[in-house]
Amino acid sequence: MFDSTVYSSRRDALRRGLASRALADGTILFLGNRESPMNYPDNCYGFRQDSSFLYFFGIALPCLAATLDLGSGKATLYGDDATMDDIVWTGPQSTTAELAALCATAASRPRAALAADVRRAGAALLYLPPYRADSRAELAELTGRPYAAVNAGASLPLVEAAIALREVKSPLEIAEMDKAVAVTVDMHKAALSTARAGMLESDVYGRVAQVAYASGGGLSFPVIATTRGATLHAHGHDRRLEQGGLFLLDAGAEGASGYAGDLSTSFPVGPSFDERQRAIYELVLRMHRKACSMLAPGLKYRDAHLAAAREGVLGLKDLGLMRGDPDEAVGSGAYAFFFPCGLGHMIGLDVHDMEDYGEILVGYEGTERSELFGLKSLRLAKALKPGMTFTVEPGLYFIPELYAKWEAEGRFAGFIDYAAVKPWLGLGGIRNEEDWLVTEAGARRLGPEFDKSVAAIERMRG
Ligand code: GLY
Ligand code: MN
Repeated sequence: MFDSTVYSSRRDALRRGLASRALADGTILFLGNRESPMNYPDNCYGFRQDSSFLYFFGIALPCLAATLDLGSGKATLYGDDATMDDIVWTGPQSTTAELAALCATAASRPRAALAADVRRAGAALLYLPPYRADSRAELAELTGRPYAAVNAGASLPLVEAAIALREVKSPLEIAEMDKAVAVTVDMHKAALSTARAGMLESDVYGRVAQVAYASGGGLSFPVIATTRGATLHAHGHDRRLEQGGLFLLDAGAEGASGYAGDLSTSFPVGPSFDERQRAIYELVLRMHRKACSMLAPGLKYRDAHLAAAREGVLGLKDLGLMRGDPDEAVGSGAYAFFFPCGLGHMIGLDVHDMEDYGEILVGYEGTERSELFGLKSLRLAKALKPGMTFTVEPGLYFIPELYAKWEAEGRFAGFIDYAAVKPWLGLGGIRNEEDWLVTEAGARRLGPEFDKSVAAIERMRG
């Protein structure tokens, strides 16, 4: 974790943010995460702290909660000191008071004191929307709200003030993100040097995960290591890699500090791309470069998405797969047959940063969200600011099921040449993903240089 003053400064900034939203009094309740059992209470998933708790209090241990009094600025950490029975199983643990000192929190109390303290706050209690059932149930109990009404009772000004802080990364955070992306690059290079025809997807997955865990952190989301690139999020690692096919890795490291990396790399199972694969791969790189060349403060990310889509349409027209006016192909949503997802999402302490606060609040901020197939999946559309970190991940996909439906309907037949597309259907999908930071002057890639040109990829595969 960072120095204790980082957390007190963040909480002070949150109070200022709420005061500027006419909320100078009240008590914020932050619920840390509990252990989450896999199949029986003592066999749990790897513990992951709630990212808001991590941001404002920094302590990645289960069963903690905290309050922040907006008027006085006093923060209190709630937790139970380990008993001797606990210590026998877990080893010595810091006391709650010691943990409180680590995050510059003046007071610590037993967890059992939380209910009465929350009751005292009454209607002035503010909380963030829970995304885990146990946190939601606890909030229902603490606030007296019905379970179903808990999320609607979350504080909008608190969410907005937290987004305003967390969306702009400090130099300390950017350093952590550079490190997470560096480990992520190593994960991808490990896949590039491991994958061979005849292996199972799980062989590559295991190698990628090994690099992440050996770095001292873990994975920022479940690894996509697949021969089925046409499926946007293909989980399951039981297929065999076949000569002539493509492999798509979408995987990221989570550093010990909680910050995420998220990269996607597509490469041939054999030593080189075939002609069609190379054409689509190079076109995805062009879409990528187009979007990245635009990144700067003030750019609406939706415009980068649309520019990447237009670049894709131009290339697909050159290949004879699309036709018609490129602007109309983008405006109508026809392009989404090949590019049915968004260009990217915010990244930080969450791989989809702050998505628990609500996608519209985090990614749109007044920008209208489209209902068009494809564009509706864009998670980030708003204007960029220095300090914002996000992914850029264009892709082109040949999805047989989508082909069958749209071709039968004749959907966008003026733009999509279904007869020409048919022989390409076995290609799968190609995605290239990087993580970027907006600077005062423009933008830069997070992490080290990672050359994804055809020549570099084929060199690594040879
Ligand atoms: N890389 C996984 C995702 O963006 O959802
Ligand atoms: Mn991503």
